[in-house]
Amino acid sequence: MRHVSIVGTGYVADLYMQSLATFSDISVRAAFDRNPERLAAFCRHWKVPPADGLAQLLEDAGIEEVILNLTNPDSHFEVSSACLAAGHHVYSEKPLAMEMEAARTLHRIAGEKGLLLASAPCSVLGKAAQTLWKAVRDGRIGRPLLVYAELDDGFISQAPYRQWVSASGAPWPFADEFRVGCTVEHAGYYLTWLIAMFGPVRSVTAASAVLDETKLGNLPTAPDFSVAVLFFDHGVTARLTCSIIARHDHAMRIVGEAGTLEVGEAWDNSAPVRLRRRRRVRRRLIEMPFTRRIRFGEATGRKVARFGSASMNFALGPAEMLDAISEGRPCRLTADLALHLNEVTLAIQQAGSTTGTVRMTTDCAPLEPMSGAMGQTEIRRG
Ligand SMILES: NC(=O)c1ccc[n+]([C@@H]2O[C@H](COP(=O)([O-])OP(=O)(O)OC[C@H]3O[C@@H](n4cnc5c(N)ncnc54)[C@H](O)[C@@H]3O)[C@@H](O)[C@H]2O)c1
Repeated sequence: MRHVSIVGTGYVADLYMQSLATFSDISVRAAFDRNPERLAAFCRHWKVPPADGLAQLLEDAGIEEVILNLTNPDSHFEVSSACLAAGHHVYSEKPLAMEMEAARTLHRIAGEKGLLLASAPCSVLGKAAQTLWKAVRDGRIGRPLLVYAELDDGFISQAPYRQWVSASGAPWPFADEFRVGCTVEHAGYYLTWLIAMFGPVRSVTAASAVLDETKLGNLPTAPDFSVAVLFFDHGVTARLTCSIIARHDHAMRIVGEAGTLEVGEAWDNSAPVRLRRRRRVRRRLIEMPFTRRIRFGEATGRKVARFGSASMNFALGPAEMLDAISEGRPCRLTADLALHLNEVTLAIQQAGSTTGTVRMTTDCAPLEPMSGAMGQTEIRRG
């Protein structure tokens, strides 16, 4: 049996528990939350031992264990640095840190101590992303040139979000979500796929704005809309949009010289990936109305329950870290990827209306899809 421990037992921790349940060889050693009522409700619901404090949790954790930092974004740096200081591998919910300097510090400490440091999201290990990635690598659309990626979530401030409660009773933390903002919360769902496929982003030309200013009454909130043009090292250009204003749309299109690859949902690990060809018919150029589904590998189906439009297995990242540790190999979710993702995300979030272009200073080595392993990451709809 392999172990993880959990710090932060709020809304998302329940989604991790449902996801971890799909891995019969991973068990949760202990959990801690600074809110004692929340910790008690979580531990009672999932039958997980509560730790007396963070120090106790870290003292009891084994050296091959991964600590899952599922706290609110403002606590990520403090909790992850305590875990690294105690000599533990860390899987952090996004963002790695709210400030770039803090993220760089975590990256440096992990490197110095030889510890793994990765950040969510991990859907890049899921079947949809892996299929898309392999199709690009296999040249199914020729040379990729342009990506349009949408992460619009509907007009969330008008949704009945006060009724959204997790399995163990945690309310959806709307105030924190609105303060942190949809770009920091969501951009990573496609940025990780894009960085994995096309390498590091060299420069970001972005704009962001707060359009619905009264979400939290008079309290300030983060941008609820952002749009970024991302110039990748290896020539691809992408336009990524995030909002909690426009109608739900999570489509991504990758346009290449020989056709287009399309996926309709970033939050469904099993979302179909489709290829659309382009043909010359007499004097016209036609984008074919029919698409062909791309399939790789056999489905093994680690089922997780749906929540809203999502069907993601949040445990793919922690499981990959545990595999890397036990197999003595590099982890596919690298610390460099986490740091680069953090820098690109913050550049988009902080763009405002006047920043214009920002050159990225971090880098990450090119990644490759999990050859032949696509079926092992399929998550079916629950
Ligand atoms: N809510 C979602 O649907 C969702 C989905 C994916 C990812 N996430 C991410 O998951 C993370 C947590 O979000 P959430 O929705 O679970 O928030 P939440 O507020 O429901 O839960 C966070 C928990 O962390 C605890 N906490 C905060 N600081 C702590 C500290 N220093 N020590 C111990 N406990 C601490 C809080 O008491 C709280 O119970 C965020 O980074 C968020 O971006 C959330």
